[in-house]
Amino acid sequence: AEPMTLTRPVFFVGFMGAGKTSVARRLARTCRVASVDMDTYIERREGCRVKDIFAASGEEGFRAIETEVLRELGAAEAPMLVSCGGGVVVTPENHGIFEDAGFVVYLQVTADEAASRISDTSTRPLFQNLEAARARIAERLPLYEAVADATVDTAGKSVPAIAREVQRVL
Ligand code: S3P
Repeated sequence: AEPMTLTRPVFFVGFMGAGKTSVARRLARTCRVASVDMDTYIERREGCRVKDIFAASGEEGFRAIETEVLRELGAAEAPMLVSCGGGVVVTPENHGIFEDAGFVVYLQVTADEAASRISDTSTRPLFQNLEAARARIAERLPLYEAVADATVDTAGKSVPAIAREVQRVL
């Protein structure tokens, strides 16, 4: 693959299990661009796991940290592939940050496929069961669509196949 000539960050959004982290990593390798996983970045910054932030400070506490981190990454104006947490779109303020900071790719996934890709739900406080996941995806759908500059359907596709499609829309 050709190295990408990115000048600003590309953000991956979509539900848990959409493949945001795997696709960002894969593209980063083939295109020789840095990748940043927001949840991992938050865990290093806070010195604790996402699920423990939820336990200690609730979703509200987690969302506040998430917005600070999104703002920092956006302000960097550096070429990098950022995999966001699935709920990054629920904070209205984040929509403005996306608008200013770079290009947003929405990876679409169904609840069933997401569940089949997620092996360990213990690290994901907001993925409890299939019914709840379906409802949450439906609720977030307009929010993902609102921030997306491009949308890629991941149904039945491998990580390399999704990464190739993303390259085509960048
Ligand atoms: C969340 C998704 C998670 C993580 C947190 C909340 C959500 O990220 O940020 O558990 O609200 O959908 P992944 O999408 O990387 O699992």
